[in-house]
Amino acid sequence: MVIIMKLESIIEMDKKYYMNTFGERNPVSFERGEGLYLYANDGKKYADLMGGIAVNALGHAHPAVLAAIHDQVDKVLHTSNLYYNASQALLAKRLVKLSCADKVFFANSGAEANEGAIKLARMYFYKKGEGHKNEIITAKNSFHGRTLATVAATGQEKYQQPYRPLTPTFIHVEPNDIQQLADAVTENTCAIMLEVVQGESGVHPLTHEYLKTARRICDEKGILLIYDEIQTGMGRTGVMFGYEHFCIEPDIFTLAKALGGGVPIGAVCAREFCCAFEPGDHGSTFGGNHLACRAALAVLDVFESEDLIENSRAMGQYFVNKIDDLKTGKIVQIRGRGLMIGIDLAVDVKEVVKKLFEKGWLCGSVGSATLRLLPPLIITKQEIDAFISALEEVLS
Ligand SMILES: Cc1ncc(COP(=O)(O)O)c(C=O)c1O
Repeated sequence: MVIIMKLESIIEMDKKYYMNTFGERNPVSFERGEGLYLYANDGKKYADLMGGIAVNALGHAHPAVLAAIHDQVDKVLHTSNLYYNASQALLAKRLVKLSCADKVFFANSGAEANEGAIKLARMYFYKKGEGHKNEIITAKNSFHGRTLATVAATGQEKYQQPYRPLTPTFIHVEPNDIQQLADAVTENTCAIMLEVVQGESGVHPLTHEYLKTARRICDEKGILLIYDEIQTGMGRTGVMFGYEHFCIEPDIFTLAKALGGGVPIGAVCAREFCCAFEPGDHGSTFGGNHLACRAALAVLDVFESEDLIENSRAMGQYFVNKIDDLKTGKIVQIRGRGLMIGIDLAVDVKEVVKKLFEKGWLCGSVGSATLRLLPPLIITKQEIDAFISALEEVLS
């Protein structure tokens, strides 16, 4: 069956039957994508600078990923974790070789990977015989997901208020405030969980000093350091995992978003000493199935064959320099690490995003002032130049 529907009919049906949690969506529905571009069902072409919210690191419809997925679809999609799975074993090995982790568990999303990391930290102390250490320190303005535990971990009141009481105990501290972090540790603390660059709240990097202190506190107190690398991982910040910028490794880190190139997958990556899960302690029906792992393996192949990390670093620098060169008084601050870019504007960002959309550019916003860009890591200088011209026009 081929689905061909007019945008008006899709919107009408969506409003009637879909449980809307995303607010007013952009009035467009895409039919296909290729590289940086998406094509709407009226034929209009858009350049995607949000990359499916940091998912489409390889752009859309990358031939190598499509070939792997097609091949896998023809063979087997899912068998469950009752059986061995070559792609799962290969992907776990690959992630271990690339990182500081010794073992990997697969989930289906970022929130689920974080949920797994939180459970693993608690299980680690439980198995050590240190009882129910249940406090996890996270940072204000962080974002860790939408399940109940990860909503509790998220350091933003607006996500938590309707769901109180939030059962797990998360202590939120001011990011980059070393004293607050040290003071927040109690005998019940089992972990400190951080995004090395806070993404969802507007691209705010943690400082080297702060992460160094977090690592030191964890080592001194015997507690675990967890990094949420769901957005910062997979080359987004110009290195494979964001923590490489700081040379400060975690005990556990989580991945999702770009790992599957658009096929849902999440991963909990941990050092051997804290791999406390034993059979029955955790699980997932779909997590790490044939399709998702095969897609992720293809994604990692492309990272190597196209040197995407170097492109992320170089294009990120080029992008930020170009914005910096813009002769407009409307740019207040630029924050960027690789191709994770936040630009504070002196004008209403929602209006700017709307105008860019009308010109065929898909961008995001945070609050009323920050323009958020998460372009695919394959982006070129010419594509960045074209965007800069569009932004310049909109801002003037
Ligand atoms: C840092 C971070 N953690 C966790 C999540 C949640 O991931 P998911 O939406 O796949 O559950 C996100 C999503 O934006 C994220 O940016």
